[in-house]
Amino acid sequence: MSRSITRLLMIAALVSLVALPAAANPSNNTADVVEKPTFFKDVLPVLQQNCQVCHRPGGANLGGMVAPMSFTTYESTRPWAKSIARQVEARTMPPWHAAPRHAGTFDNERTLADAEIATLVNWAKSGAKSGDATDAPAGKEWPVNNGWSIGEPDLVINMGQKYFVEDDVEDHYITFTTTITKEMLPEPRWVKGVEFRPGSEVVHHIIARPLGGIAPGNDPSLYDEGFGTLLEPGTEIRWAMHYHKEAGEGTGKWDFSEAAIRFYPEDYTPEHIIVNDPMVKHDFAIPPGDPNFQAKVSSTFERDSLLLGYTPHMHLRGSYAKYVAMYPDGTEEVLLEVPKYDFNWQTHYKYPAGGKPIPAGTKIELTMAWDNSEGNPNNPDPTATVHFGQPTTAEMMFGFVSYADAEPGYQPESTGFLSSRRERDPERMKKMLKERFNVDWDTLSEDERADVLKRLREARSGNAGAGDR
Ligand code: HEC
Repeated sequence: MSRSITRLLMIAALVSLVALPAAANPSNNTADVVEKPTFFKDVLPVLQQNCQVCHRPGGANLGGMVAPMSFTTYESTRPWAKSIARQVEARTMPPWHAAPRHAGTFDNERTLADAEIATLVNWAKSGAKSGDATDAPAGKEWPVNNGWSIGEPDLVINMGQKYFVEDDVEDHYITFTTTITKEMLPEPRWVKGVEFRPGSEVVHHIIARPLGGIAPGNDPSLYDEGFGTLLEPGTEIRWAMHYHKEAGEGTGKWDFSEAAIRFYPEDYTPEHIIVNDPMVKHDFAIPPGDPNFQAKVSSTFERDSLLLGYTPHMHLRGSYAKYVAMYPDGTEEVLLEVPKYDFNWQTHYKYPAGGKPIPAGTKIELTMAWDNSEGNPNNPDPTATVHFGQPTTAEMMFGFVSYADAEPGYQPESTGFLSSRRERDPERMKKMLKERFNVDWDTLSEDERADVLKRLREARSGNAGAGDR
């Protein structure tokens, strides 16, 4: 299976997972270890609770894309027994990348109890027996709403046109702008959830401001009760598409991506307005071969706020992420540490309903690290100096934070960039332009400035003339 397809499957699986309330609280209290477990009695309950959300055929998912094998029946699971044992022992399945110290912190945590791991491992070791089918738990019900995991949508929108991703494309960025018309939405409505459906497997990610997107920045598809965003008629939706595949004859694909929206009832106004902005750093240069290059960026919350979740986003060399809160009283708290960041899993780490309150004056410091050495098997080129850029072969430093103001009804300002809004530094930008393009910003004419910014955008997209972004 090609990398890009695998990656997309994972993203799709992940998005559907986030959308399913059933997955929110995997049971971690399996009783004593069984020496010779059977499939129906001991194994199936563990798979239902922790694996089937991804490992099942079809069902509620994006474009029918799910994990490549199904663990719903004995017949479909039996051939994978040894592989299952290996994956759960190594804790690579179920996928979850927060440090162990966060156990119990996040709503969508995916971890197995030691006893559950032992059950799956002992099952494989003792011959992967079926046991008695009458011992099986009742089959688990999965929501099916025309394939939308968030339930029957109130409004389905699309990117406005079909688009052909050419054979020679590896990474391609293009933005389509569509409008929410009065016919689609006569009155402003509060959004309860959004779900994206890629129209083709070459979609690597979609960011559709102001709706949200899928990877990077996976919003939970259904917001907590009382939290939402307002959608008004006339709103322009900018579909920033990233297509990614291996180039080659016959690899071209048509795309027509869609999004489903669910609204709160007309007479309901959520108390809190959700903002999902990244902390961003653009001006870094990762030296060739460096196994642990680090960068930091921070942002201070000026008002009492509710932290709702985080989505760290880097590219292939990303290796580590940490969000630390520095409270006004001088104490610190590690909010999220991802010891081994994995580009393939764009996880959104979501707090339980209501979020985590922080006082005004709290500073959040984001640290990210990259491994640009030969020792990183994902590294496309250890000899390169790596800058910020859109292609997966360039790097990113995006620490998405989704939050709301603690005061009901208060609309936080959202400009799309948490850190640059609060700590904009023109001198740093001038220095970066000097380094990258050898120009002195202060001496440039308006036209020259526009030209430099255009070149910067092109350099970042790695894809000159790919479209307006
Ligand atoms: C969030 C979705 C998700 C969950 C939950 C999940 N998986 Fe997976 N799993 C995947 C995806 C996607 C792949 C394909 C990954 C790949 O090809 O690298 C996969 C691959 C696997 C593989 C094959 C690995 C290989 O390449 O040999 C095994 C075995 C597996 N999962 C077991 C499990 C078990 C057991 C659980 C539950 C304890 C589980 N998974 C939970 C998404 C999930």
